[in-house]
Amino acid sequence: MEITSSKIASERHNVCREFDGQIAIVTGAASGIGLAIAKKLLVEGAHVALLDFNEKGLQQEFESYGEQTLRIGLDITNEAQVQEAVADVVARFSKVDILVNCVGITGVTNLKSHEVSTENLQKVFDVNFMSCFYTSKAVIPSMLAQKYGRILHIASIAGKEGNAGMLAYSASKAAVIGLTKVQGKEYAEDGITVNALAPAVIRTPLVDAMPEVQVKYMTDKIPMKRCGTLDEAADLAAYIISQKNSFTTGFTFDLSGGRATY
Ligand SMILES: NC(=O)c1ccc[n+]([C@@H]2O[C@H](COP(=O)([O-])OP(=O)(O)OC[C@H]3O[C@@H](n4cnc5c(N)ncnc54)[C@H](O)[C@@H]3O)[C@@H](O)[C@H]2O)c1
Repeated sequence: MEITSSKIASERHNVCREFDGQIAIVTGAASGIGLAIAKKLLVEGAHVALLDFNEKGLQQEFESYGEQTLRIGLDITNEAQVQEAVADVVARFSKVDILVNCVGITGVTNLKSHEVSTENLQKVFDVNFMSCFYTSKAVIPSMLAQKYGRILHIASIAGKEGNAGMLAYSASKAAVIGLTKVQGKEYAEDGITVNALAPAVIRTPLVDAMPEVQVKYMTDKIPMKRCGTLDEAADLAAYIISQKNSFTTGFTFDLSGGRATY
């Protein structure tokens, strides 16, 4: 039978998208990796709650998606605000299938450990680690109720390897990797997978704000001799939080151009 191009086009139109009918929460969605992942999820059919303290950025990037999104401005280090945001998402969409934690800051870098201020280290832990704890704590009951969930915490190669000059950031990301291992095991029989992603350097505002000498230290260590792209980050993230990724949990996926081979 002859297959016409119009038939192929119409079949393509009817193909289910990867995340049709799914509800996702993406933190740090106004910029960089969170923005790229949120847009990928929207294109693939998900309804997405976008959490960030940059409300203007959320509006600029997502206004055109209308009812497919819920934009929530909040400080992710405030547990009460996180609980309220998740309650709003459940009230609006009835469930949460996916949580992607992209909020992150480096804090002050290019410092040796004895030069690091306790206050700055505490702040980096609050934003990078406590945010993952607060958000996952808030969504897991809803995932347990439906026996399905996909949680992705964005960690960093710095958490696996330890970047000199980045104590607060590296240690907070190592803590995120530890959290991922624990949560992966705890919910392994409940249909919920919990994984992390460890990028090397992806050019975003977070990297642009760092001293050039610190960025060079990180990029020089990448065997592929280039930065990763936002598409590469979003594509790998999309697989990790898809239904297809059903037998991997507690794992930290690598996205480092060969820097980490484990
Ligand atoms: N870009 C890289 O090379 C790289 C490498 C490894 C890991 N990561 C991690 O990926 C994640 C995303 O990084 P990015 O490069 O896209 O950063 P980014 O700076 O582009 O985006 C971070 C977002 O988080 C938001 N945010 C920060 N603090 C917040 C708070 N307290 N409450 C609410 N929102 C807050 C910001 O407004 C921003 O929109 C981070 O966890 C980062 O550590 C990035």
